[in-house]
Amino acid sequence: MKNRERFSSRLGFILISVGCAVGLGNVWRFPYITGKYGGAAFVLIYLIFLAILGLPIMVMEFAVGRASQKSIAKSYHVLEPKGTKWHWAGYVAVAGNYMLMMFYTTIGGWMLAYTVKTAMGEFSGLSAEAVGGVFTSMLGQPGYMLFWMLVTVILSFGVCSLGLQKGVERITKIMMSCLFLILLVLCIRSVTLPGAMEGIRFYLVPDFQKMWENGFADAVFAAMGQAFFTLSLGIGAMSIFGSYISKERALLGESLNICILDTVVALLSGLIIFPACFAFQVNPGEGPGLVFVTLPNIFNQMAGGRLWGSLFFLFMSFAALSTIIAVFENILSCTMDMFDWSRKKAVLINAVLVTLLSLPCLLGFNLLSGFAPFGEGTTIQDLEDFILSNNLLPLGSLVFLLFCTTRYGWGFQNFLKEANTGTGLKFPARLRFYVSYILPLIVIFIFILGYWQKFA
Ligand code: TRP
Repeated sequence: MKNRERFSSRLGFILISVGCAVGLGNVWRFPYITGKYGGAAFVLIYLIFLAILGLPIMVMEFAVGRASQKSIAKSYHVLEPKGTKWHWAGYVAVAGNYMLMMFYTTIGGWMLAYTVKTAMGEFSGLSAEAVGGVFTSMLGQPGYMLFWMLVTVILSFGVCSLGLQKGVERITKIMMSCLFLILLVLCIRSVTLPGAMEGIRFYLVPDFQKMWENGFADAVFAAMGQAFFTLSLGIGAMSIFGSYISKERALLGESLNICILDTVVALLSGLIIFPACFAFQVNPGEGPGLVFVTLPNIFNQMAGGRLWGSLFFLFMSFAALSTIIAVFENILSCTMDMFDWSRKKAVLINAVLVTLLSLPCLLGFNLLSGFAPFGEGTTIQDLEDFILSNNLLPLGSLVFLLFCTTRYGWGFQNFLKEANTGTGLKFPARLRFYVSYILPLIVIFIFILGYWQKFA
């Protein structure tokens, strides 16, 4: 048997996991849903979910990966009791990774396109309408979007083809270091804008009244979905990195580091966006268009806006690309585990496959826009996001939970032993009741609530 590849350092492991976690979820989704549900009150609920839900499940994912030394396609095969069917969930998880990439590559392409557009000064001097028009007209040009989606796919698989250490680890380390740097610079710029204070207040002082008016249950559901999504939980996207590390460190401490870094990036992204919105009197509850319409307008009014705008979209591109590279690595590893392919073969086949799978989302904005799965104005992207975020992620997390806690699966003792091997923070055994019974019930309850809200 071939030796499994390994990360070269602990820092590499942490930065790649953070690179996977920090993505459009942090810098695009988080600010706009926070805007929608009324700022700080929502942030508070979200933080609670991260701690009580996200953190333990992340430990479980890493434990499953590290114990099995496999990608999620094969982890359950290795760890499940003989004759059980847990491994079916493994295949669903693999499908989940493809589903994520089916819409992520398109948005990644938009980010790259906007970096170039902004740097070339394409927005300079345009009216607010015209800036919005640039986005709408982009959505109407499948060829243009296809070009940028291809650049995204080829670049990212290109990095993966160099190997785990020489490609994924090395490039992600560089990108994440730049990302943190740019994040700080942009934060400082934004909070020192005249009138920024009002945005900071909106963002950091909870307004439960407003949250109540907008639907409390809605907000809770969105907060949970966001917690799963931002930490990349439920489909084995994290467990893969567990399979590349040694037994030197216990897993709770590592997971905590990753959660904290991910949260810092999300919170600081809000600290870029909200003060800027308020300083230029635009509504931060804009929805998905926030980043592509509202922000270019803001940069337009700002002194040195072309530079700040280009930096911002470069930052977004790094966040998106590091996530895409990490998920591609998982997809590659899954297919290499399943079919015994070489890395090169897996790269070639998956690059073609992912490109084809990305087409429905891309065409959903133009040629296929007649198909509106959730009614007027919704697109195939919304459908894919719904299948993933409202179904595969919570249900996949539920499977991880049950697998690690019941004796019909891997069992709590095995999980605990794996999680607590090594130095550093240990997973407390007395949480057993909580993770075995309460946590699954919370996940199920909120899962049902989500359907209720969507369709009732
Ligand atoms: N966490 C990433 C983001 O915030 C997205 C992501 C990567 C993801 N891998 C995942 C989401 C696995 C769910 C499951 O953009």
